[in-house]
Amino acid sequence: MIRLTDDEIRFFRDNGYLIKRGVLDPDLMSEARDSLWANAPDSRRRDDPDTWIGAWKPEDESDDPKSLRKGTRWNFRLLGGEEFMVNLLPADPNVHGMAEQLLGEGTIPVPTRMRGIYCTFPYGDVEKKGYGCHVDAHPFHLGVVGYIDDVPPEGGGFCVWAGSHKTFYQDFHSQYKMEPKDCHEEHRRQVNDSPHTDCYGSAGDIVFWHHRIGHMAGHNYSRQIRQAVLCDYRKRDLDTTQDEPPQDDMWRDWDGIRSLNERDNG
Ligand SMILES: [Fe+2]
Repeated sequence: MIRLTDDEIRFFRDNGYLIKRGVLDPDLMSEARDSLWANAPDSRRRDDPDTWIGAWKPEDESDDPKSLRKGTRWNFRLLGGEEFMVNLLPADPNVHGMAEQLLGEGTIPVPTRMRGIYCTFPYGDVEKKGYGCHVDAHPFHLGVVGYIDDVPPEGGGFCVWAGSHKTFYQDFHSQYKMEPKDCHEEHRRQVNDSPHTDCYGSAGDIVFWHHRIGHMAGHNYSRQIRQAVLCDYRKRDLDTTQDEPPQDDMWRDWDGIRSLNERDNG
C-alpha cells in the first residue's frame, strides 16, 4: 500500500501539487500503451521513433473529441471508460487512497472513467516556446496526471506554478466554477512572470494537483512521446459546495489537510 506522509501532505498544501513516484501498475500501463498504438494512424509507427516527431499531417488531424489530433497533440479519450483504464488510474487503490488522505476517507466516489491518454509528440528541431498557465474550467477538487512512459525534463511533462493555487483559489466568485473575478487576468500575468516547475518523471509516476493551480502541458523537446493519463476526483458534496464563495480557510473541504493543520497547530 502506498500512502502519503505528513510531509508530503504539507508539500501539497503549500505548493498545490505533489509528485509521487512509481505508483501505477506496470501491466496496466503496458496495456494502455498497446491500445494507444493500436489506434494510431499509420503515419506514426511504434518501431520508428523518427515518425513520432512534429505535427500531424493534415490528413491525420481529427476534430473527433474521442481522438482529438491537432498539431503535436493527441488527446485519445476513446478508451477512458474501459475497465483497464479506470483501474490504471482513478480506481487504483493507491491513487484513490492517497486522494482520500487529502480530501477525506469515504468522500470521493471512484470515477467511472478517466479523461484518456493525452500525448504530446516531440517538437523536433524548433525554437523554444514560451510558457503560460491556465486554470481548468470544470468543477473538481483534485487532478491526477500519471505517466505511462518516461517523461524526461523538457519532455512535455505537466508544468505547474507552485503556490499559485492560493492566489487563484480567491480569484473566482465560486469555489469550483469558472467565474473569474476581474483581478484574475492580472494575477495570471504575475504568476506567469514567476518560474514554473516541470514535473518530469518515469513511467508509473503520478502528479496530484489542486483544482485551482496554474498549470500547462509542457513543451516536448525530447525524442519521446509524452504519454499521460489524467483523471479528476470530485467529492460527493461538490454539487452543494461548488456555488459557495471561496472560504476563509481554503482547505475547508479537504478533511485530510484540515486535520493535519489542526494537529500541527496543537
Ligand atoms: Fe488544464
